[in-house]
Amino acid sequence: MPEKTQVVTAALPYANGSIHIGHLLEYIQTDIYVRYRKMRGARCLFFCADDTHGAPIMIRARKEGTTPEAVIERFHQEHIRDFSDFLIEFDNYHSTNSPENKQLAEEVFLKLKEAGSITQREVEQSWCDTDKMFLPDRFVRGVCPRCKAEDQYGDVCEACGAHYEPTELISPRCSMCGAPPVRRNTRHYFFRVADYLPALEKFMEGDALQQEVKNFLSTWLKEGLKEWDISRDGPYFGFKIPGEEDKYFYVWLDAPIGYISSAKNWADKNGQSLDDLWRGQKAEIRHFIGKDIKYFHTLFWIPMLTGAGFSIPDKVHVHGFLTVNGEKMSKSKGTFINARTFLDHMDPETLRYYYASKLRNSEDDLDLSFQDFVFRVNAELVNKVANLGSRTVSILNKNKELENRLGALADDGARLVEEAMAQGEKIAECYDALEFGRALKLIMGIADAANVFIDHAKPWELKDDPEKQRQVLSAGVNAFRLIALYLKPVIPRFAARTEKMLAIDPMVWEDHKKALTDHTIGEFERLAERVDMKAADRIVEATLAAAAKAGEKQPSPTGGSPASDLIEYDDFARVRLVTAKVLEAEKVKKADKLLKLTVEIGGERRVIVAGIAKSYTAEQMPGKTVVVVENLAPRKLKGIESQGMLLAVNDGETLTLVAPEKETPSGIRVS
Ligand code: MSP
Ligand code: ZN
Repeated sequence: MPEKTQVVTAALPYANGSIHIGHLLEYIQTDIYVRYRKMRGARCLFFCADDTHGAPIMIRARKEGTTPEAVIERFHQEHIRDFSDFLIEFDNYHSTNSPENKQLAEEVFLKLKEAGSITQREVEQSWCDTDKMFLPDRFVRGVCPRCKAEDQYGDVCEACGAHYEPTELISPRCSMCGAPPVRRNTRHYFFRVADYLPALEKFMEGDALQQEVKNFLSTWLKEGLKEWDISRDGPYFGFKIPGEEDKYFYVWLDAPIGYISSAKNWADKNGQSLDDLWRGQKAEIRHFIGKDIKYFHTLFWIPMLTGAGFSIPDKVHVHGFLTVNGEKMSKSKGTFINARTFLDHMDPETLRYYYASKLRNSEDDLDLSFQDFVFRVNAELVNKVANLGSRTVSILNKNKELENRLGALADDGARLVEEAMAQGEKIAECYDALEFGRALKLIMGIADAANVFIDHAKPWELKDDPEKQRQVLSAGVNAFRLIALYLKPVIPRFAARTEKMLAIDPMVWEDHKKALTDHTIGEFERLAERVDMKAADRIVEATLAAAAKAGEKQPSPTGGSPASDLIEYDDFARVRLVTAKVLEAEKVKKADKLLKLTVEIGGERRVIVAGIAKSYTAEQMPGKTVVVVENLAPRKLKGIESQGMLLAVNDGETLTLVAPEKETPSGIRVS
């Protein structure tokens, strides 16, 4: 019997932001799995889409003075390019704002309704009377009811971690206009998830989930399944609920249905039937997701699918979060790195390789340490693997007597290649089990053995015995070919270069069972470049620079109309302006606009990097009294941490420093 078709998905990225290296962990993991399965000859389909609905997208569009449709279209194009440049190859990349998704979301809803699992009741919500809308939790800010930290979200406190209702916040404000929200009743739709408890329990007892995920779920199940609120009032960017004028499906209702819509869109384009992919368990379905969204993909998704008569997933693979240099990705540290910024400075296959080397089938977090990244890519991909290819192929190319021809294998060489072939099954098991790190260890073992073999056999000294030389090189090239084959799911472009260099057909997994003998190879290709720490630094700098620029360009939070550009006194009062005395000044290397100033503020010394070098020389500065923003978050400029900002009048050409009219000591408040 032929194997079942495999349907594989990665989570649908939100359509109001760029793809970053955290996201890429998931898309690279999924892509490696899919490429591996395809190399095995499986019929494996990789579906994804943009997750387009919800209040944040609508609010972002408002701020930009555009429509949600325009925002999601822009990001759609950007996402597709970023994924493709990271060699992530979808069979279909669709959108949740599509006719298929509208139809399927309505179908699921109506089926659940027919089954009697949808209820309605009044709930109390936060309403902003200025913005004329119900506020999503994230758009209410106020004082945490538990630890009293200021300026916290409506659902969770970032200071103490408490979870609460937006209505519990102390002095709540609308994050868009600053007005205190009022409480207002509204009718919402709920999905009675508990109706599907038996299906959910069966799902959990099966082998769809990692043990750690099962443990999580069973604690949630023990707490009891609450009804799930699946509606939102307008204005909202989403699909209208059938029969309602101004109520919409909550984004998390139609988002996972987007997986099915992408499959349907593919099926329609390719003369196939959705039923074969998503009904009657005809295909094998696998979701790859991050640990932050497992709740949605189990407790809600399984009941939804069951109630609507769709197949439930055979596997939900949960991965952990990416940290950078041991910490959460951070905007202020420049480690919130966009896919594009990485691509501007490094080869995407270096990241694919590094992630693969660290990936396990686990929801533990995974760290990208740039030091380790540079070390590993150079030590393994460049020195062990690419070098093996180049040191063997280049001799075959150079010694004209050999005519680029591979011959038979013998002795040690034959043993080396046989052992490398024998590893194929074990490596395949690792890929199947999503233990990519272990797969790469095995592959590096082959590379080590092959390099030792070449070091001992010294083919470069065998010029006088061309047939012996051919024998040694044939073994080396064969080992190299197997390594490239085993690594092909991870670094497909490297593999393609290898195929060209060796003049062979695109490698499939079966090819590991046969050695390449009596074959004429092509010319040497450069396979991989070394990476260095400087490129990593440049990525971080570019990320910081982009964040600083975005900060300048940010439209006013209330929407840009003249009246709404007004700020409250409290907003102004948060900016601490003080006098400061300049002690020292020097030019910043390779930055013709910047001066590095050391200033004194009420007895405390600080370094401020100021963009005034076009208007003031370093010599002019010492002794001047200036006005600085004292409570500005520090920021790195040209590698120097700037701990504040100077005020200057800017007429577009020259800058004139703002200074008190009378002689004033430093550290005096300006207000
Ligand atoms: N739109 C939802 C998913 C809907 S699926 C029906 C969403 N989008 S997301 O853009 O925030 O995240 C997409 C995927 O990337 C999620 O699986 C998420 O866990 C993953 N990651 C986002 N940041 C990540 C890291 N820093 N590290 C690892 N994975 C991360 O959630
Ligand atoms: Zn408001």
